[in-house]
Amino acid sequence: MASDTSAAILGTGSYVPERRLTNADLEKTLNTSDEWITTRTGIKERRIAADGEVTSDMCLKAAQLALKDAGLTPEALDLIIIATLTPDQPMPSTGCILQQKLGLGEKGVPGFDLNAACSGYLYALSCAKAHIESGMAKTVLVVGAEALSRIVDYQDRGTCILFGDGAGAAVVGLPREGRPAHRIKSVHLWADGRGGEQLIIPAGGARQPASHASVDERLHYVRVNGREVFRFGVTKMVEMIQRQMAEHDLKAEDIGLIVPHQANIRILDSATERLGLPPELFFTNLEQYGNTSGASVPLALDEAARQGRIPQGKAVLLLGFGAGLTWASALLEW
Ligand code: COA
Repeated sequence: MASDTSAAILGTGSYVPERRLTNADLEKTLNTSDEWITTRTGIKERRIAADGEVTSDMCLKAAQLALKDAGLTPEALDLIIIATLTPDQPMPSTGCILQQKLGLGEKGVPGFDLNAACSGYLYALSCAKAHIESGMAKTVLVVGAEALSRIVDYQDRGTCILFGDGAGAAVVGLPREGRPAHRIKSVHLWADGRGGEQLIIPAGGARQPASHASVDERLHYVRVNGREVFRFGVTKMVEMIQRQMAEHDLKAEDIGLIVPHQANIRILDSATERLGLPPELFFTNLEQYGNTSGASVPLALDEAARQGRIPQGKAVLLLGFGAGLTWASALLEW
């Protein structure tokens, strides 16, 4: 049972758009094949936001479900944090847009965005935990959401096969009598800016503002050094799991589920093999959604919970890694 002074996840929710982009669809426009994509990544299809559907719309749907799961209404919130690299626009923040969509404008509830790419949800979870445990906030909405289809180059077969859209949310607060609460025991964040070029959208910011030339050169799209990022992902997954297990004296049988960032099945397989952990401890849904960056971990956590994949009382490990380079882990008591 969670203690009264530790922040806990009180409810989760997620949303994915209806439209599917399958490997067969990509075969029609690119020099690629279902066989190549499946064996190299494990991904079969991704969801794509509808025309006019933006990140804050997906945030709203995931947030409403998380609030319902927690048995709370938006009025309970006193902080909103959105982890995204695809905000509705550079300003105002998607946090403020979501705040208004939740009907909290008049109340003045603060909302902001945070960009730690695929580690973003865990960075946001650490902020929520710190706000709650310091007494600065009581109930925090954390959302990881992305409309990556808007920043992916569908002419680049090396990247567009990887990414999809979606959102996942958690309501974080202190445990309440008679309600489920999943204590956030620890969150660790890391970054190494030296690897910034490995995973980058070169233009559209202060360094290379939008111009005819930047658009012509397709610099507003995601660029990935696949091999480097692959190696980085495996190394950091292994390090983070080993560290959390050592720090909390966990054996494999104490872990209910590991919910990793859903980047590539081969990254997960390599890490699992190096660690000697049973593959069934790792939750995956990348086959259906691809890499949804900031949405990846909360979407997977919510699906795992809904599918009854997380045994009560066991440890749950959340793991993220991505642009920055950033990486992060969290340990929950389910
Ligand atoms: N279909 C067919 N061939 C493709 C292809 C596709 N969709 N994408 C790339 N190729 C080709 C390349 O052009 C290359 O051809 P060449 O040898 O003639 O030059 C060949 O396949 C091998 O490319 P490579 O990039 O070495 O493949 P890989 O095994 O490293 O797989 C990724 C590429 C992107 C799938 C893999 O590196 C990866 O998943 N990396 C991690 C990326 C990621 O997850 N980033 C986000 C993390 S947060």
